[in-house]
Amino acid sequence: MAIRLGDVAPNFFATTTEGPIDFHQWLGNSWGVLFSHPADFTPVCTTELGFLAKLRGEFDKRNVKVIAISVDPLDAHTGWIKDINETQSTTVNFPLIADPDKQVASLYDMIHPNADDKATVRSVFVIGPDKKIKLMLTYPASTGRNFAELLRVIDSVQLTANYKVATPGNWVDGEDCIVTPAVSDHDAQRLFPKGLRRVKPYLRYTPQPNR
Ligand code: BEZ
Repeated sequence: MAIRLGDVAPNFFATTTEGPIDFHQWLGNSWGVLFSHPADFTPVCTTELGFLAKLRGEFDKRNVKVIAISVDPLDAHTGWIKDINETQSTTVNFPLIADPDKQVASLYDMIHPNADDKATVRSVFVIGPDKKIKLMLTYPASTGRNFAELLRVIDSVQLTANYKVATPGNWVDGEDCIVTPAVSDHDAQRLFPKGLRRVKPYLRYTPQPNR
């Protein structure tokens, strides 16, 4: 069944390059990002995993655990990680799930048969500490993901989770946020002591609350 925003991220047991995991236990109280990669020893995926490894500090700062999956066996992953480390001048520092039976890929609907019936598309699932799906992205195999955009959307969903704000189009960290329509002007004065800029009754801005 398709996964939708707000659903509990399906739990699974899997073999990874950092040992066996129970996914929900592994997440603990952290946020999580699950990335699918079409196949081992492929060029776009190699660059993506290199970028991810280099950005580990940015994910740690946001209390986000990173885990990747590719529908290849563990021994292939081990060889591929050596290549990633060598070619991308980094050290892969997160687990890579081995999923040769495509159990996790099927559970998360990562195989889109009209695109490719064997490899996964490039899926991203952002999961909250409540284990619920907060955000999903789907890219074709031929397009590498933009990790600055991924960090941007994590910042946005974390702001929404922690404060009653949304973020406008093209928002980046540090810019004004939008007070959600569910918050009355009266409550907004209390919730957002940094101020309220009222453009229309439904369009109200406040400085980013966690800055
Ligand atoms: C890649 O990661 O380079 C790739 C994988 C599958 C199809 C196209 C590109």
